[in-house]
Amino acid sequence: MLVSAMAKPPKSSSEKISSPHSPQDSANPMWGGRFASGPAAIMATINTSLDVDKRLAREDVQGSMAHAEMLGAQGIIPAAAAKLIADGLNKIQDELTQGIFPFRSDIEDIHMNIEARLAELIGEAAGYLHTARSRNDQVATDFRLWIRNQIDSLDISLKELQRALINKAEAEAATIMPGFTHLQTAQPVTFGHHLLAYVEMLGRDRGRFRDARQRLNESPLGAAALAGTSFPIDCHRTARALGFSHPMANSLDAVADRDFAIEFLASASICAMHLSRFAEEIILWCSAQFQFIRLSDAFTTGSSIMPQKRNPDAAELTRAKIGRILGALTGLLMVMKGLPLTYSKDMQEDKAPTFEALDALNLIVAAVTGMVLDMEPNRDSMRAATMGGFPTATDLADWLVRKKSIPFREAHHITGRIVRLAEDKNCTLADLDLRYMQQIDSRIDQSVYDVLSIDASAKSRTSYGGTAPDNVRAAAIKARERFL
Ligand code: ARG
Repeated sequence: MLVSAMAKPPKSSSEKISSPHSPQDSANPMWGGRFASGPAAIMATINTSLDVDKRLAREDVQGSMAHAEMLGAQGIIPAAAAKLIADGLNKIQDELTQGIFPFRSDIEDIHMNIEARLAELIGEAAGYLHTARSRNDQVATDFRLWIRNQIDSLDISLKELQRALINKAEAEAATIMPGFTHLQTAQPVTFGHHLLAYVEMLGRDRGRFRDARQRLNESPLGAAALAGTSFPIDCHRTARALGFSHPMANSLDAVADRDFAIEFLASASICAMHLSRFAEEIILWCSAQFQFIRLSDAFTTGSSIMPQKRNPDAAELTRAKIGRILGALTGLLMVMKGLPLTYSKDMQEDKAPTFEALDALNLIVAAVTGMVLDMEPNRDSMRAATMGGFPTATDLADWLVRKKSIPFREAHHITGRIVRLAEDKNCTLADLDLRYMQQIDSRIDQSVYDVLSIDASAKSRTSYGGTAPDNVRAAAIKARERFL
């Protein structure tokens, strides 16, 4: 009855208010009289979700196909109706693929849009589809399927980013750059090593998405409105058909839970945080003060007033996008906080932020991948920058420990005095005359110079996970095996 009513073609907008099936009209019994159109129009506006949830269209059809097939197989609906529904849904899937599905904004959401279209296509039999189902378990199913698909494609794009980083890291395995703590030069590292640090972060991100995927991969279908159903459904069958590992154990939880979206957004936030840090480094590295890398015209913009400028806008926007993504997470947590079981319409607010966050994340993963492929490292600048700031001071202290059996604390003190002297003489440790060092500690001899160059320093960091170029080459190979 409802379905055939919805199947009527859309009214022109002037007719809408008086249409017997418009949302405005359905509010009449509640408000009546002079409130008839005012509040009802607002009601329709606040209630509708089609503009947002139309992105679930394919998943909605997929869920309905599994449900209808099961209803037919269980003898809950006539086999002929199940067949008609399957054909109709296939047709709708085609329409969606071709971009010709006739969305109707006068129908509240995607679920009802598709059911109404089905009724247009196959008539009365469409009315059987919603047996033993509610939009509550339907939307939970659709949204899980959608997020699962997104996680799968995100995994591929994060892997591509890792690939770009690993390739670049391998090429720059011996490129010396300053390693920083507090953004102060600390010790020489290699650019390759630095890039591989991000490969690790992205690996954990992928792991988090994988974990979220595994936990979300259970089927709410069959929970119906909230209590389950009296029809002899086979929810194992629908779960299987949709690639879920099993049906959800509790029908109330099945319709009330949005943990899967929250976990997805939490993982997305952490990933965006990583990309934001990398973006910030790209911004620093492109600056005239660093000049560690150059981005081509493809990833920079000019200034309308300052002709010399090459602004790393893509990196800056990447740095900023976490605002939306983390905003989506906190927003959804706020929506869900304090909601009594089970479904409340509040939960319709779950999708817009999730979609927005996913779009932002996809965008920045692609932008960062593009920038990694695009960036030209400036090895000379990185090297020159490493010379300043006495980055081999630790090597000197370690040498005193190793070669002269001086306790590290004392070695640290001696080195500090030598650094001060080099600072006064305005030279690097490697250039400081031996006599000056010996004035501070007579035990120092010529062989100290073996450890004072930045190359020697980096080369010596051969401990597990260390920055030595040979380590970095091996780590790149290993990263390929682990992640690609
Ligand atoms: N559009 C709704 C949503 O996204 C679908 C579920 C509606 N359920 C209901 N009981 N009104 O949450």
